[in-house]
Amino acid sequence: MKALVLSGGTGSRLRPITHTSAKQLVPVANKAVLFYGLESLADAGITEVGIIVGDTAAEIEEAVGDGSKFGLQITYIPQDRPLGLAHAVLIAREYLGDDDFVMYLGDNFIVGGITGLVEGFQANKPDAQILLTHVPDPRSFGVAELSESGQVIGLEEKPEHPKSDLALVGVYLFTPAIHDAVRAIKPSWRGELEITHAIQQLIDDGADVRSSVIHGYWKDTGNVVDMLEVNRTVLESMDRRIDGEVDDASETIGRVVIEEGARIERSRIVGPVIIGSGTVVSDSYVGPFTSVAENCKITDSELEFSIVLQDSSIAGVGRIESSLIGKHVEVTPAPGVPSAHRLVLGDHSKVQIRS
Ligand code: DAU
Repeated sequence: MKALVLSGGTGSRLRPITHTSAKQLVPVANKAVLFYGLESLADAGITEVGIIVGDTAAEIEEAVGDGSKFGLQITYIPQDRPLGLAHAVLIAREYLGDDDFVMYLGDNFIVGGITGLVEGFQANKPDAQILLTHVPDPRSFGVAELSESGQVIGLEEKPEHPKSDLALVGVYLFTPAIHDAVRAIKPSWRGELEITHAIQQLIDDGADVRSSVIHGYWKDTGNVVDMLEVNRTVLESMDRRIDGEVDDASETIGRVVIEEGARIERSRIVGPVIIGSGTVVSDSYVGPFTSVAENCKITDSELEFSIVLQDSSIAGVGRIESSLIGKHVEVTPAPGVPSAHRLVLGDHSKVQIRS
């Protein structure tokens, strides 16, 4: 069994942080979303992985390399334009050969991996298997309609009036039967060859398409609350590990990861928290559900339930909560102007300040 991982696309839809143009590299607990996907493929016993890459190919290739750090053999498959998920299957035809494969969307995050799913597929051998999850607003997903017995009877891509709240999750299991289906379909209203339509084609042809419903799913939709929440979930399952330096005047409590090369001085860290390498935390408090990436400086401040990306500094500003702070950001007090805020904010920023 092979895997086809989709990490193409233009990246232009990335919100709320433009720290990188590849949305598959958005970090959760200091690790790219894509890496969790690659690890769960390796855990499921898959070694041969084709990665579809587009405009952001250089960034993806630099981050993933030849795949050996994941125990995978990676083949990069360039896609000139993001013409759709089914188009990605079309151009990977030669790579996939006549093998069964897992198609994994690189911007999707599945809590708990996919090992059970892959084993179930190999044991039961349907023609295709899809994953579904209940979502509050299904209109920005593929949506499945099930019969009373749980059979998939219809699929629609981003419907205005969804027939259920069951969204298609970005992990699909296919046999080579999918290749005829992707050749049979036409581009959708948005000009893409939709995998949803190819699966509908399989259903119309009488193929055995099964579904299972999962819990614990996240996709980068640009929603900060969701991003903080998935970060929290991942941090909660981490084990304590102190590889960096913690001085005698500091305290680390509970599930705390201090990466090698990080330094904690005169501070209190209450887990779950991860502090990236090269980061220095001094005279500060870092509280639960916080990820601080590499090479940051947290000085004389309090930080809780937040994500801070690489190379940022926060100094002397009191308490920061429920915040997402991008790369190369400086947060400092405004000296001598007690009642004024001085702001330099990027596009689409959202800031809450005392009025
Ligand atoms: O995330 C689940 C949803 O993914 C499903 O519910 C939908 O049915 C499915 O169509 C897809 O919807 P999106 O419109 O959200 O997909 P997106 O454009 O975000 O692309 C998903 C991943 O695939 C992303 O990592 C970029 C990559 N991609 C996308 C396209 C269109 C490619 O590699 N090539 C492409 O041509």
